[in-house]
Amino acid sequence: MDTLSGLAREVTAGQSNRMESTHGMEAASGSTRNGPHRAIDLIQPQMAQVEATLLNLPDLQPVELRQAVEAIVKSGGKRIRPTVTLLVAGLLNNLHNERIIHLASAVEMLHTATLVHDDLIDGSLMRRGASTLNARWTPAATVLTGDYLFATAASLAAQTNSVRVMSIFAETLSVIVAGELQQQFTDWAKRSTRDDYYRRIYAKTASMFVLATTAAGVLSNADEAQMAALLDYGRDLGMAFQIMDDILDFTGEQAAVGKPVGSDLRRGLITLPTICYIESHERDAQIECALRGECDPQTYDALVQHIRTSGAVETALAEAQKIAASAKRALADFPDNAYRATLVELVDYTVQRNK
Ligand code: IPE
Ligand code: IPE
Ligand code: MG
Ligand code: MG
Repeated sequence: MDTLSGLAREVTAGQSNRMESTHGMEAASGSTRNGPHRAIDLIQPQMAQVEATLLNLPDLQPVELRQAVEAIVKSGGKRIRPTVTLLVAGLLNNLHNERIIHLASAVEMLHTATLVHDDLIDGSLMRRGASTLNARWTPAATVLTGDYLFATAASLAAQTNSVRVMSIFAETLSVIVAGELQQQFTDWAKRSTRDDYYRRIYAKTASMFVLATTAAGVLSNADEAQMAALLDYGRDLGMAFQIMDDILDFTGEQAAVGKPVGSDLRRGLITLPTICYIESHERDAQIECALRGECDPQTYDALVQHIRTSGAVETALAEAQKIAASAKRALADFPDNAYRATLVELVDYTVQRNK
């Protein structure tokens, strides 16, 4: 069973989001699938503890905040970032350490907080197949709920009792926020360059994968060479992950990805498929108006369709696969065990996924 058909089958089976995500990862655990020690199974008890930690909310007031937070956490998601943290801990023989559970929970909570603010900033009305908070609440209430989630993430990170982890956590959040602001202040000409794109996706996505890997390294007493390798793996996995997200915005099925597709370009977000397209086409009036974010809806529709069928998506995918190969190479010096095999397969899953 390859990853894509595995995922497609679950979607049609209509299982819950959480089950789909677990099965998605399972589909990614190819070579270890029949072995006695499948890492994705080995981390299940810890993953269950992470889920319980995420839902262990204090008696929050107002009740609306509690309900909103609970709904977001229960809405599923692939849980790829805590999975990475737990697998790295397993790789470094540190899976049975409670601080790792706090870290994995902190990383997922931080991700959740960024999604709440991201959907407000992007004006996205759907995520994980459900309506977003900003679709139902005022911007003020949405921002404050996001802030609450950031605070919860920081509190979970503090429970690792590691100043170094806290400092990586804070640094990551600064990188994400500064990256988002930078994007708002960059003109369209610069935003359509590869350099700018790669800087943006490092800031908004890869930095959090680096947190997921390196903070697990810190708590597992990784040596300097291992820390460097974990940084490389996290960065490259995260970059490939975001390129794939950007490709899915052009090629994905809304029912599978659970969020609106075909919308990045219209929102003025210039991503790799668009960059590949403009590199191989004359800059006509259609492209110019899209880059400036000034097209009418029909022009956007036509351009999205052109990009879909132009070969630009394939070029972008080839670029993601190259970065994915580099992520796998970063793990070469770690012991060859089930955890490493699954971290490798997670890379394949990332560039083959359809949600
Ligand atoms: C969405 O992340 C935001 C990006 C960085 C692309 P995921 O695709 O991991 O979202 P969930 O948690 O599975 O919903
Ligand atoms: C990811 O970028 C944003 C963050 C991680 C904050 P996108 O804007 O592409 O994410 P989606 O597509 O809304 O999930
Ligand atoms: Mg978004
Ligand atoms: Mg996206």
